[in-house]
Amino acid sequence: MAQRILSGVQPTGNLHLGNYLGAIQNWVEIQQDYDSYFCVVDLHAITVPHDPKVLAENTRAIAALYLACGISLEHSTIFVQSHVTAHSELAWLLNCITPLNWLERMIQFKEKAQKQGENVSVGLLDYPVLMAADILLYDADKVPVGEDQKQHLELARDIVIRINDKFGSEDKPVLKMPEPMIRKSGARVMSLADGTKKMSKSDPSELSRINLLDPPDVLKKKIKKCKTDPVRGLEFGNPERPECNNLLSLYALLSSQTKEAVATECAEMGWGQFKPLFTDTVVSALEPIQTKYNELTADQAYLDQVLRDGQTKAAEVADTTLKRVKDALGFLPAL
Ligand code: TYM
Repeated sequence: MAQRILSGVQPTGNLHLGNYLGAIQNWVEIQQDYDSYFCVVDLHAITVPHDPKVLAENTRAIAALYLACGISLEHSTIFVQSHVTAHSELAWLLNCITPLNWLERMIQFKEKAQKQGENVSVGLLDYPVLMAADILLYDADKVPVGEDQKQHLELARDIVIRINDKFGSEDKPVLKMPEPMIRKSGARVMSLADGTKKMSKSDPSELSRINLLDPPDVLKKKIKKCKTDPVRGLEFGNPERPECNNLLSLYALLSSQTKEAVATECAEMGWGQFKPLFTDTVVSALEPIQTKYNELTADQAYLDQVLRDGQTKAAEVADTTLKRVKDALGFLPAL
């Protein structure tokens, strides 16, 4: 039987190039080799203050973007996390075996909590446990994510060790050990405004990121304004030139060229020559995604059906695992 993969994206605003190159493009490339599950993690989206008026709409938009980017229903199941209630339930069970200090150590929690100041919810602290539940419910072998999720994956692995140790046996583990799958290139796309900071949905400046649905004129403007340096001749890997490294890496990935080919092509270039070339590359890489997205969102009934089918298939797997965990923990089965 094929190994299983599971991953997800939060429906908080628009998807950017980091989400695409770090995660979704990889899913598209590997989906046919696995039994693939991709969810829209809407329960995670409420761990920071959110607007109920746009949550449902954003959730649909992300599901449509999965399809528009090339996730195929022939190989993959697409579903909404909150439609499969086992996610919340397993998260609770895992909460009760996860030590508090494991969560307090999480870098993303510390960063996000610092940004928010007061009013940090218990949900934000608990975010990685819910993420562990997402993964473990599907007995996922591999979890394709960007570099920033590595620590959360390690936590999920620690939870597996702990639950198996306490409630399972060597020949009968309660949960399966997942492995992170992080690409060599694209796993850490940096901000357009600062090449030392990760491209992020939560950056207050729109100019810091390229969104998958940005129209060509917006892309042009963002690239025109993006941070560069006064040096002529473009190169990879110079620690003094993080923006140069980031933009060249994006160019290589979006034009499907090797780093070597791009290094040669751009060795003598100035920014005035590179930026229009890069703009054209980004516009043509995103154009087919945007066209497909517009087609998909025009047909609401189709997307509804995709998510309904996804829910049925995902719930079947998730409920079986949840029962296994509840049995191992000693609950009285429903009578
Ligand atoms: P989210 O929505 O923040 O990010 C979705 C995916 O995009 C990747 N990513 C990046 N990759 C490269 N460069 C960047 N600048 C960049 N920014 C984001 C993230 O690593 C991620 O793969 N916690 C997850 C969502 C989640 C999940 C799961 C993932 C919830 N449950 C279960 C896998 C399995 C997250 O960060 O979403």
